[in-house]
Amino acid sequence: MNPVHPIYIDEVAGHEGQEVVLRGWLYNKRSSGKLHFLQVRDGTGTIQCVLSKQDVVPEVFDLAGRLTQESSIVVRGTVRADPRSPLGFELGVTGIDLVGESIDYPITPKDHGVHFLLDHRHLWVRSARQHAILRIRSEIVHACRQFFDERGFVLFDSPILTPNACEGTTTLFETPYFDETAYLTQSGQLYLEAGALAFGKAYCFGPTFRAEKSKTRRHLTEFWMVEPEVAYMDLAGDMRLAEDFVEHIVRRVLERRAAELKTLERDVTALERVRKPFPRISYDEALTLLRDKGFAVEWGSDFGAEEESAISEAFDRPVLVHRYPASCKAFYMKNDPEDPRLALCVDMLAPEGYGEIIGGGQREDDYQTLRDKIAAHDLPEEPFGWYLDLRRYGSVPHAGFGMGIERAVAWICGLQHVRETIPFPRMLERLRP
Ligand code: 4AD
Ligand code: MG
Repeated sequence: MNPVHPIYIDEVAGHEGQEVVLRGWLYNKRSSGKLHFLQVRDGTGTIQCVLSKQDVVPEVFDLAGRLTQESSIVVRGTVRADPRSPLGFELGVTGIDLVGESIDYPITPKDHGVHFLLDHRHLWVRSARQHAILRIRSEIVHACRQFFDERGFVLFDSPILTPNACEGTTTLFETPYFDETAYLTQSGQLYLEAGALAFGKAYCFGPTFRAEKSKTRRHLTEFWMVEPEVAYMDLAGDMRLAEDFVEHIVRRVLERRAAELKTLERDVTALERVRKPFPRISYDEALTLLRDKGFAVEWGSDFGAEEESAISEAFDRPVLVHRYPASCKAFYMKNDPEDPRLALCVDMLAPEGYGEIIGGGQREDDYQTLRDKIAAHDLPEEPFGWYLDLRRYGSVPHAGFGMGIERAVAWICGLQHVRETIPFPRMLERLRP
């Protein structure tokens, strides 16, 4: 082939009428005697490449006829406007090089069961729907970082190997650490509190792990969490931050990923309603709402998936549920001075039945009270010595939250299950591929 500079499919609009080289894979093919229509994808898009028998040498036409799904190919041709194609352009092919053959590609255009697809996740990620989801995930992660970076937060990475629990001892993954036992982090929060007291505003973003033994559509054993923490911030400030944050993320996906949302047939009107202010209701108000809907929930218990869905369905945008009973929340939460039975915490529940995407609140900032809480939760004091220090040397009110990326992606994409929101999901019965 002539040395024409290769371009990506998302760049063809700038090359109308020109000869270009594209490098990609055969996604699909249709032939009708004198014509071959190749759908070629390169990661940035898919373009229809047309070969007509009279315009190319017989070897090229025959090669196109023999090409199999997912074979990698370099295609040369002329970019032509085509108002019927979603891209607006097609390629009139003049030459093809086969780079790598693909024989018996397991994922065919027919329907496959989800377990088969998950077993072939390394190949499934090439399909149009998975592409749309993972591009939106990438956009959301970018939006999270942009939000905090633009507001002067310092990225403060928290460790993954830790000596202590953060979110209860029942979901800890243990791993030998030389002569000790370490645990995979459940949340970067405790370390991030040190960051907030050092930098004022800090955030972390990384993988977190929970040995969740239940099979649900919202739980992974490995998931990514973005967590901000701010010194001198109270619960009300925390709720405003969470509201600004989620509004920003949804706006940005609507602006930049309209095509992907369309591929997923997402109802964008539901996302367009995600504007401030979000409703705020107390745990007690949520309880009343649930009882009116026929749920029998006792005061003091946390809400399960069904209850959260029922609450979130009552609102057209995310709802902030605050002040849960302290007895059903983590040890580090500060009690409400106006009613010490309550914790100064907040969960954000996404609409359309999605339920919790964010958990957070104001932290206990008094040294002795925190020591007592650690003891009351049957946690060993020694690994928390450094954490207690934060209350000994210039303690201040502070608050933060954590958002699970996969829950946010599932909601924004309108998916039934979090398993498609991460390249390689880890769940109770899935460690492979
Ligand atoms: O509500 P959680 O447990 O809160 C914390 O971990 C706090 N330490 C965060 C903080 O205040 N800095 O978890 C926070 C979020 C949940 O709202 C949910 O979105 C997600 O993490 N999450 C999970 N996502 C997928 N699979 C799981 N097993 C999850 N557990 C929590
Ligand atoms: Mg929670």
